[in-house]
Amino acid sequence: MENRTKEELQDSTMKVSSLNCIDLANDDLHHSVVSLKQACVDCGFFYVINHGINEDFMEDVFEQSNKFFALPLEEKMKVLRNEKHRGYTPVLDETLDPENQVTGDHKEGYYIGIEVPKDDPDWDKPFYGPNPWPNSDVLPKWRETMEKYHQEALRVCKAIAKLLALALDLDVDYFDSPEMLGKPISTMRLLHYEGKSDPSKGIYGTGAHSDYGMITLLATDGVMGLQICKDRNVKPQKWEYVPSIEGAIVVNIGDMMERWSNGLFKSTLHRVILNGQNRYSIPFFVEPSHDCIIECLPTCQSENNLPKYPAIKCSTYLKQRYEESHVKLSSYKNQT
Ligand code: OGA
Ligand code: NI
Repeated sequence: MENRTKEELQDSTMKVSSLNCIDLANDDLHHSVVSLKQACVDCGFFYVINHGINEDFMEDVFEQSNKFFALPLEEKMKVLRNEKHRGYTPVLDETLDPENQVTGDHKEGYYIGIEVPKDDPDWDKPFYGPNPWPNSDVLPKWRETMEKYHQEALRVCKAIAKLLALALDLDVDYFDSPEMLGKPISTMRLLHYEGKSDPSKGIYGTGAHSDYGMITLLATDGVMGLQICKDRNVKPQKWEYVPSIEGAIVVNIGDMMERWSNGLFKSTLHRVILNGQNRYSIPFFVEPSHDCIIECLPTCQSENNLPKYPAIKCSTYLKQRYEESHVKLSSYKNQT
């Protein structure tokens, strides 16, 4: 009970985070790189503005996302996620913080991955291949809208990757190589949250987690909910809200980037707390190619700073993280 009261007290005095804002159209590259590096070292979260994704188009994407989630469950279950982690994820499908959650995340989602043509030698790899799409008679223009957003978001991520390379004293195109972002595993995810979270009862929109990959772009409909915890080891944990800023996209560093940079860039714990309002968001997760080995970058190690993490293949790492957080597909057998 004592702890509960503390948590409630902490909730009522919840801080709002102030994050650096990177202007992707700024000609002063040095300034952008310094600001980005500071954000990555401090908490791994920042905003980007002038990213080139048109506001009206962004609204379209949210409207289409809304339309999908408004369909009857039976229709949505027709595009239930497959073994390649694409398609519909029902409410409670994912549990990101099993230690503190009594049920899964109170959100439903839709994964859209990268498509490589059928004659591509990599077609059968776990995170490439075709996406299931909702019936175009039911949702006309849906696929086109999502494919366009996927392309635009990837373009923004590649621009950010150049700044990240410079911030790590690497060649500006370091992350552009074929094994890195040449054929990236880039997954967008439509999310729809519903209900009211209650941390004291273990109920969350999204449980506390860090993202798996290189970077994540997060577009939201403006409804508050995202919180970050800058230092996971401080007890009790201190959570700060990250507000949405019109025209800006939130970006965060994922675990692979933390590993590449030998812990210099932080992959920060975050979660979503719901206030009862519907909330829609679209994270876009970028990871390098399947076979990319994630190991300490040459500029992030020295005699006094040896690599802290063992090297690991991108697809092996991702597969493991997805399997740990989602329920087994076979548990849906009788529902589709
Ligand atoms: C995620 C995530 C935050 C949000 O999907 O990994 O952290 O605001 N989402 O939806
Ligand atoms: Ni996340």
